[in-house]
Amino acid sequence: MRHILITGGAGFIGSHVVRLFVNTYPEYEIINLDKLTYAGNLSNLKDLEGKPNYRFVKADICDFDAIREIFDSLKIDSVIHLAAESHVDRSITDPFSFARTNVMGTLNLLQSAKEAWKGNDDGKLFYHVSTDEVYGALGFNDQPFSEERRYDPHSPYSASKASSDHFVRAYHDTYGLPVVLSNCSNNYGPYQFPEKLIPLFINNIRHNKPLPVYGKGENIRDWLYVEDHARAIDLIFHQGRVGETYNIGGLNEWKNIDLIRVLIKTVDRLLERKEGTSEKLITYVTDRAGHDLRYAIDASKLSNELGWKPSLQFEEGIDHTVRWYLDHQAWLDSVTSGEYQSYYRKMYGV
Ligand code: NAD
Ligand code: TYD
Repeated sequence: MRHILITGGAGFIGSHVVRLFVNTYPEYEIINLDKLTYAGNLSNLKDLEGKPNYRFVKADICDFDAIREIFDSLKIDSVIHLAAESHVDRSITDPFSFARTNVMGTLNLLQSAKEAWKGNDDGKLFYHVSTDEVYGALGFNDQPFSEERRYDPHSPYSASKASSDHFVRAYHDTYGLPVVLSNCSNNYGPYQFPEKLIPLFINNIRHNKPLPVYGKGENIRDWLYVEDHARAIDLIFHQGRVGETYNIGGLNEWKNIDLIRVLIKTVDRLLERKEGTSEKLITYVTDRAGHDLRYAIDASKLSNELGWKPSLQFEEGIDHTVRWYLDHQAWLDSVTSGEYQSYYRKMYGV
């Protein structure tokens, strides 16, 4: 029996990873540890309540004593670490929260694993989930990021994630902690907090609200369907080489403004509005400070070594995602109002 601690499991990507592991591996105990910040929402995992191999623990990765105790009492032998502050715009206004959670929180988890495992690494693994943003920005004609790319973070978010990546590697090189890392491109799909581009814009199009496009909308992102990321994490967790880093990406680059036009077209079609109705909502606003021009991932190491490739075509993924948000207006309303927090706070007595 493995006892796997998944941090940040009540968030967007974490909830998909927790669901995949709980449903695929009944022989593992999956412990979802989350502080339930504004981004954490246990209703994302309603379908898992009562499953015998799933448990939720409310804790802050910055609380060393609590984390250390959890490692011992729950016999944690593996970690999949996703908990983080994750939104670039928030990191610009509140960089300290990002340093605290993403750097100090990761360091607490590493130190707890080191102390609990005491060099007995048999069957142990610390898997750190990171982002392509640590590599900085590409020009239009540059080659996509490979794992050898020099780190060059520009936002407080990416700087904090870069720092956490360095600590993970340092614990491997210095103390021999068995680690593996992955750096993934932008994810999209169900349960993403509607501060991020895709859910925010779908919701705004539906409600005829302005779509704030930063700068000229020419920045490029490489989009991956969230369940494909979760599958990659599963593969790397089970078959990745210890000490290695794997880049994960969608081979799917979109200029923001082109992607926004696809969202407009899809929402208008599904709501049976005349084609182009919502184009007028596009509103160019002041650019994000330090806005990285382009991200793109070279995922050939992952595909050559472990045989991974994205399963969904983007058109299919976007269609499914737009339908999901249109069908889950109550979920969007509850997260934008903050209502979900009081419900689960009451349920967990916090
Ligand atoms: P998210 O913001 O949706 O979820 C983060 C989760 O972490 C929330 O449930 C939150 O409650 C929890 N959390 C935050 N601070 C915590 C703390 N101090 N202690 C315990 N829990 C805490 O984020 P996401 O988009 O799901 O991203 C998950 C991870 O994947 C992050 O590490 C992020 O850097 C990485 N990542 C995200 C993307 C993306 O496109 N979203 C891409 C690549 C990598
Ligand atoms: P986002 O979803 O915040 O992800 P990230 O910054 O981590 O890539 O943003 C995706 C892209 O969309 C990014 O280039 C910024 C842009 N953007 C807007 O133009 N307007 C918005 O309101 C938001 C949230 C993002």
